[in-house]
Amino acid sequence: MDYKPILEEIKPTPQEAEEVRKISSELLDFLNDKCHLDNVDAEAVLVGSVAKGTYLRGKSDIDIFIAFPLGTDKKDLKDRGLDLAHDCCDVFNAEPYHQFASHPYVTTEIDSFKVDFVPCYKIRDGSELKSAVDRTILHTKYVQANLKDSQRDEVLLLKRFMDMTGTYGSEFKVGGFAGYLCELLIIKYGTFKNTLKEASQWQFGHVIDLEDYGTSNMFKDPLICIDPTDKNRNVGAALRLDKYSQFIQSARNYLNSDNKHDYFYPLNKNLTKEDILSQFEAHESNVIAIKFDIPEIPLDTLHPQIKKTTDSLTRILNKNDFLVFESSYWTDEESSAVILLELAVSKLNNIKVHRGPHVFYKQACDNFIEKFGLENCYVLDDYLVLNVEREFTTPEDFIRHLLSREYISLIKVGKNLINPILDSYEICDLNDLADDEFLVFLDDFLNPNQHIKR
Ligand code: UTP
Ligand code: MN
Repeated sequence: MDYKPILEEIKPTPQEAEEVRKISSELLDFLNDKCHLDNVDAEAVLVGSVAKGTYLRGKSDIDIFIAFPLGTDKKDLKDRGLDLAHDCCDVFNAEPYHQFASHPYVTTEIDSFKVDFVPCYKIRDGSELKSAVDRTILHTKYVQANLKDSQRDEVLLLKRFMDMTGTYGSEFKVGGFAGYLCELLIIKYGTFKNTLKEASQWQFGHVIDLEDYGTSNMFKDPLICIDPTDKNRNVGAALRLDKYSQFIQSARNYLNSDNKHDYFYPLNKNLTKEDILSQFEAHESNVIAIKFDIPEIPLDTLHPQIKKTTDSLTRILNKNDFLVFESSYWTDEESSAVILLELAVSKLNNIKVHRGPHVFYKQACDNFIEKFGLENCYVLDDYLVLNVEREFTTPEDFIRHLLSREYISLIKVGKNLINPILDSYEICDLNDLADDEFLVFLDDFLNPNQHIKR
């Protein structure tokens, strides 16, 4: 396999590299001069894939960390860090945008590059950690010291492969591999190809312990990669079992494939609304799309909440005999979200079995019969039961019942979604939703993990 033509397309152009270098150093210079002038004891440091030379073409987000001494008060760190970020945005004519997931930071766009400003503590090793992001500077140094120059290309191939097969990114939306994890895999296994060979044999709980810390027993995750900068941290903690499994299978598929080149490019399907809708029609399923407005909360909070709601709704539908074949969700991350449910049934019969006590509990059976009348009760296996009329025979009716202020507590809805759902939800026709981005989602829904094969 000749990776050259692929690398030529995925490596940043010299022009992009030069621009990134120039803007990064201007930002760092500004911040460090400002700290010096204002007598603020802090240092701006370039981290992330730009600092490590492992960013893909067109994906050069500039990660700048502003490191304060360990003794700094948390509130001071936040206020001063954000002030510095704002000053920087002012000078560079950029619109600052606050992001507060677990940690305060500012994102912006400067000369069409995405820039993150993150206040953190300056630590020497993982044991001094005071906030979740403090390891990042250590990560950057570790990779700079341990990844050979020639291995940067290997990281790019791995990131690109994962990106095109849907397993790259540690944000909740993906639940896949972080950039730092890719770099550690290449440090461990040497090359892209060797990494895939190894991955094709991984088991649940595979351990990578580059510094031989011997702390893997602390973790029960699918992939355990002990952070070389912190023996108490698993770099694979955000990797979900399904993504881990998909990566293993995608590695096997790639190694067996005659179209290896294609794994580095998108599937490039020509999706049409007619085609997608007719595929759904062929299933003869009952497809229910619940659309609602989303609140303004960080994406790493929004996604888990929609997922939790989707899973809970699926469970309660199944429990009430509305067999769910597949469920998933989509959001534009700006204004709305859709929970999509594909059900095996459109309408149930009118009666269901209401289960009473075990026959062996005499008193309970007496009470049950007293309540429901002897003529109505019968024994099913070793239980006393009776047939009752169903309250809801269509899933739509049941869903409308659940999504009311009175009954919504029967499902586990993300706490920031309860009001938006109650106030805005509607059950939509797929036909009305199937515009461009949603079509891609529908295509993935119809073809589960289609991206891991070519
Ligand atoms: P990024 O998500 O920007 O990763 O986080 P990256 O390495 O720059 O890779 P790209 O941008 O996808 O090419 C920046 C840094 O934050 C830390 C890592 O040290 C990373 O290099 N980080 C981020 C983690 O340790 N874990 C995470 O889940 C995310
Ligand atoms: Mn980055």
